[in-house]
Amino acid sequence: MLAALVMMLLVSDVQATTIEAHTYEHKDPHTGQLLTCTRCPPGTHMSAHCTPTRDTVCTPCPEEHFTQYWNFIPKCLYCSVFCVENQHVKEECTPKNNRVCECNDGYYRHADFCIQHSECPSGHGVQKKGTVHSDTKCAKCPQGTFSGVTSSSEPCINHTDCASADHFVVLNGTNWHDNICSTCQELNSDGGLSLLKDFLPRFFAHQKMRLSKLKKIVRHLFQRRERQSIHSSKKNLLLNFISEWIKDASIDQLKKLPMLLKSKDMHHPAKKLSKIFKKLDISKCDINNPQ
Ligand SMILES: *[C@@H]1O[C@H](CO)[C@@H](O)[C@H](O)[C@H]1NC(C)=O
Ligand SMILES: *[C@@H]1O[C@H](CO)[C@@H](O)[C@H](O)[C@H]1NC(C)=O
Repeated sequence: MLAALVMMLLVSDVQATTIEAHTYEHKDPHTGQLLTCTRCPPGTHMSAHCTPTRDTVCTPCPEEHFTQYWNFIPKCLYCSVFCVENQHVKEECTPKNNRVCECNDGYYRHADFCIQHSECPSGHGVQKKGTVHSDTKCAKCPQGTFSGVTSSSEPCINHTDCASADHFVVLNGTNWHDNICSTCQELNSDGGLSLLKDFLPRFFAHQKMRLSKLKKIVRHLFQRRERQSIHSSKKNLLLNFISEWIKDASIDQLKKLPMLLKSKDMHHPAKKLSKIFKKLDISKCDINNPQ
């Protein structure tokens, strides 16, 4: 009942913003006379209506209470907003306003909650960064661009133009990796080892492989070592193991990876990787790009 009255009074205050709104009509209980009383300013409330001989009595709001508008409510409103998880106080409770909460950096408001900005997976770039009001907008990287990271801030970036730097394309970029550029000199000297060491960890990270299969690969690569930690590993940790292995591997060990994947029933990544190795084949270098 009181709440409904308060709502009504507040609503009428919101609508009336002109100077006339600083008064209200009140029927004097003794004389029955209709009086025009002054409203109480924000930060105060009405503790006695005006009479024919004196104006309205206004009283300041007590601690943790407020009135935001010119009003004639009998009590100030309680500062009822409290900041919860992932929010901070933007404006503290004052006699003139309720507490205002804002989402922390990296979060946006959805209903009454603050939710972390989504990350765009590799192959997708940030089209519009999230704000306190909106989530990240992701878009698949269009042809000629890529994103190799999972991120809530990185956009798609252009593939490197290999030709511009006296290099040629060894492997065309996709939406999740850049063009891989090299020179015949580089390929002849290490067989593409340095390229592979850079590329393969990202290749594994991008493949949709079941955890159990990743574990099998890691167990195989490390034989008996590391068995304990592999058993309880999460995907990122397993990928780290693979990256570590790649760092120390020889070109011949790397070239056996497609066979290993195939032997563990990972036919799709095995095929992709074989294709990539074929494209890396340096014999092509002799034909098309004689030194
Ligand atoms: C990316 O490529 C497009 C089209 O080739 C070009 O218009 C744009 O300027 C490039 N952006 C950057 C940052 O180099
Ligand atoms: C890359 O793509 C272009 C066409 O877009 C093609 O002509 C070229 O052979 C490809 N290069 C490799 C190394 O696959």
